[in-house]
Amino acid sequence: MTNVHLRPMTTANYQESLNLQVAESQDSLVASNAKSLAEASVNPALVPLAIYDVTARGYAQPLVPMIGFTMYEVTAGVGFIERLMIDRAHQRQGYGRAAMLEVIRRLKLYPEVEVIATSHRRENQNAAALYHSLGFADWDIGWAQENPMEVFLLLMHGSVE
Ligand SMILES: CC(C)(COP(=O)(O)OP(=O)(O)OC[C@H]1O[C@@H](n2cnc3c(N)ncnc32)[C@H](O)[C@@H]1OP(=O)(O)O)[C@@H](O)C(=O)NCCC(=O)NCCS
Repeated sequence: MTNVHLRPMTTANYQESLNLQVAESQDSLVASNAKSLAEASVNPALVPLAIYDVTARGYAQPLVPMIGFTMYEVTAGVGFIERLMIDRAHQRQGYGRAAMLEVIRRLKLYPEVEVIATSHRRENQNAAALYHSLGFADWDIGWAQENPMEVFLLLMHGSVE
């Protein structure tokens, strides 16, 4: 089964994250990694992470390329997965699913996390299929109505107990 290794963003690897690209047709579906890193630099609640194939484990300088980027935020009891992207060359190989599973595992380790949530653009059918297959379902929360182009989802099964 495809597995991933997540690493903090550092001065040594952030440049590589700026070179990652989604397909042209996906450009409107996710913020650029440059924007995400800019946000993280002024918001300490955001946790940006580089995604590698699991074979990167144990190497200070991984021999395999960075293949994606994810970012979550823990605030007010919510572990919110803000960003997920897999480089176009590495999509459809199970890395997106594996990265979500690893981020969920990490969020469950925070004592203050009561629920795990995420969102996607309404037209992003691929993300919708991925998130539903992982146990996310529509989250009918008041503040989400302020953003009708975005679908908000809550992790249902086995949430955080
Ligand atoms: C969404 C994304 C992260 C999925 O990453 P991935 O590594 O390609 O996904 P996986 O190979 O792990 O596939 C997991 C599931 O996603 C769905 N999926 C992903 N790409 C798909 C595609 N091109 N067509 C149909 N379903 C797709 C499927 O349900 C798939 O499950 P399956 O293989 O059993 O059919 C990736 O397509 C991406 O980076 N897209 C652009 C950015 C984006 O939309 N991010 C999400 C923002 S909310």
